[in-house]
Amino acid sequence: MINRRKFCTLTAGALLLGKMTPSWAAQSGSHELRLSHNLTTDHSVHKAMTMMGERVAELTNGAVRVRIYPGAQLGTQRESVELVQRGILDMAKTNASELEAFDPVYSVLNVPYLFTSRDHFYQTMTGDIGRKIFQASRSRGFEGVTFYDSGARSFYATRPIRTPDDLYNMKVRVQPSATAIAMTQLLRASPTPLSFGELYTALQQGVVDAAENNPTALVTARHGEVARFFTLDEHTRVPDMLVISTATLERLSSAHRDALYQAAHESMIFQKGVWENASEQAVATAKAEMGVEFIDVDQALFADRTRPLRNEIASQSAQSEKVIQDIERLSV
Ligand code: GCU
Repeated sequence: MINRRKFCTLTAGALLLGKMTPSWAAQSGSHELRLSHNLTTDHSVHKAMTMMGERVAELTNGAVRVRIYPGAQLGTQRESVELVQRGILDMAKTNASELEAFDPVYSVLNVPYLFTSRDHFYQTMTGDIGRKIFQASRSRGFEGVTFYDSGARSFYATRPIRTPDDLYNMKVRVQPSATAIAMTQLLRASPTPLSFGELYTALQQGVVDAAENNPTALVTARHGEVARFFTLDEHTRVPDMLVISTATLERLSSAHRDALYQAAHESMIFQKGVWENASEQAVATAKAEMGVEFIDVDQALFADRTRPLRNEIASQSAQSEKVIQDIERLSV
């Protein structure tokens, strides 16, 4: 059921998008693709998608353009994907945690410690497994175009977390994802699903004691100002995902579609090249300018506690089980 707030956001989003359709877009063969995301414009993912927009315009002689709405101005990730599903919005950048609510196969990408390294993650996402995951939601009104590196997610809090026991009873903000909720419960913390935009204030006002993300959130979303202890437990590698409405795909010619996929692929490669540096810079800035302490921990302790989740997700469907096994087989 759609609640009142969500109805208003969807309606506002639809009106805004309707109003902003430029007249040239109505000309046959020209497309302006509207893309919503919740990150700041200094984030590497925003820069990569900007580059994708420039490339697709170049490859199509200006016939396909991308207009980006950053900072959740069109709504949260969840709301943006709903607009995409309805064909009101063309594209949204979200991530595999949020997409769980739309297609269960995405749960697999939220299994703690499933990826054994960054290389393992890239091998999975750029190969057949990734491609099948992208296409799995086609009948639900959208599909994946590409993914972006969002590093490893770790806990950060207003007090230090050195072992899983320190999480006992802590109120931890998680994404609206059943797997993230279950993972936090296995660590005996109390999960609080909130959208990314609500998190700064929630940490500041003590609504939550902790959250989990990669280090760039400390700086780009300024969470380091309100949570000064970052625990390097690196429990998941949840990819950021760029999705497109199937209605939009159907409107594009196959040449324009190919150009978009090529530009998206190039933007993924570009972001892969800048991500590590962006993440290291964020760590340096959080330490030097925000006084954040980074805590090394025994990751095996966190992996032991969260291990039951692997079988729980695998037992959800034959497809999930196969994808998990395929991913595990890729790891050397
Ligand atoms: C990552 C991701 C965001 C997401 C956020 C979150 O930072 O890039 O798109 O919203 O995690 O924890 O909500």
